[in-house]
Amino acid sequence: MQTKRKHPKVKAKLHPKNKHNGRYNLQQLIATLPELNAFVKMNEYGDESIDFFNPEAVLTLNKALLKHYYDIHEWTIPNNYLCPPIPSRADYIHHIAQLLGESNYGKIPIGENIKCLDVGVGANCVYPIIGSKEYGWLFIGADTDQIALDNAQFIVDNNDILKGKVQLILQENPKDFFYGILKKEDQVDLTICNPPYHASQVESSASTIRKLKNLKKKSVQQVTKNFGGQNSELWCDGGENKFVRNMMRESKKFGNSCFWFSTLISKQSNVESVLKALRNEDAAEIKVIPMGQGNKTSRIIAWTFLTPSQQKEWREKKWI
Ligand SMILES: C[S@@+](CC[C@H](N)C(=O)[O-])C[C@H]1O[C@@H](n2cnc3c(N)ncnc32)[C@H](O)[C@@H]1O
Repeated sequence: MQTKRKHPKVKAKLHPKNKHNGRYNLQQLIATLPELNAFVKMNEYGDESIDFFNPEAVLTLNKALLKHYYDIHEWTIPNNYLCPPIPSRADYIHHIAQLLGESNYGKIPIGENIKCLDVGVGANCVYPIIGSKEYGWLFIGADTDQIALDNAQFIVDNNDILKGKVQLILQENPKDFFYGILKKEDQVDLTICNPPYHASQVESSASTIRKLKNLKKKSVQQVTKNFGGQNSELWCDGGENKFVRNMMRESKKFGNSCFWFSTLISKQSNVESVLKALRNEDAAEIKVIPMGQGNKTSRIIAWTFLTPSQQKEWREKKWI
């Protein structure tokens, strides 16, 4: 056995409000969800850990985290759907909450006055879960995938903390993002989005194989099913770049219906072209918010079409 490694107390670069700073306290999580115990083993460094190569173990860890930190007692995902890493999903919520706060004299607006549209809520419903627990916000979750929405609805219906807080709506046209979901007179304070990022199924499978190889440190020839999501979650024609540029273009039509629009951008190489697209749409303000966890860095891009005086009017009417 190798010598025991020393671990930093705080994981690099997570938002300070993120509850997942530091290593998982697996004994505490087992106390919350005893079935996790079956998946906890000593690793080669003498630390308790779970096998991140095993989809059942990852799913059970997520159930434990969601129960322990977010009061979610019933959570599941259909086979082959995305099992989200909770710490990085929580980071998006905390960073975007901070941005709302910066637009409100440093005070994060909380409670049911605040409404957030999640474009692509997914089967896992992860952002509404975290956002409603951490900040008491209401959510609209939109998706093009009926199976995903049915599962998200199951999660909402079976957890008291989400009842009446999350409205799920089918986006019938995959080319749209806000049409069919928002009416022009609606007002949401935020939109968030974790877009499908690969441009083709081949690219998506190759990336999954790379990820598995890195985890397992050995050759993997085939994509393990049930690991990291299904087709429509992982790829779309044109990848995240085209998806996000189309969303930005449509957002201008809803410029008075939302304070901050936002999206994740996972690929650094896409940043310049999506910023250019936003400038072409004459966004009034654009923010690039870096996020990172361990080796994986990402960023949120947020934009608004509201002028400073419209922002002031919004905040005084809705937030203060
Ligand atoms: C990467 S997944 C994100 C799921 C979840 N929010 C998460 O972070 O784990 C992207 C989601 O976007 C959905 N989607 C694709 N096109 C969409 C559109 N035009 N409007 C709404 N959702 C869409 C997919 O069905 C999928 O559920």
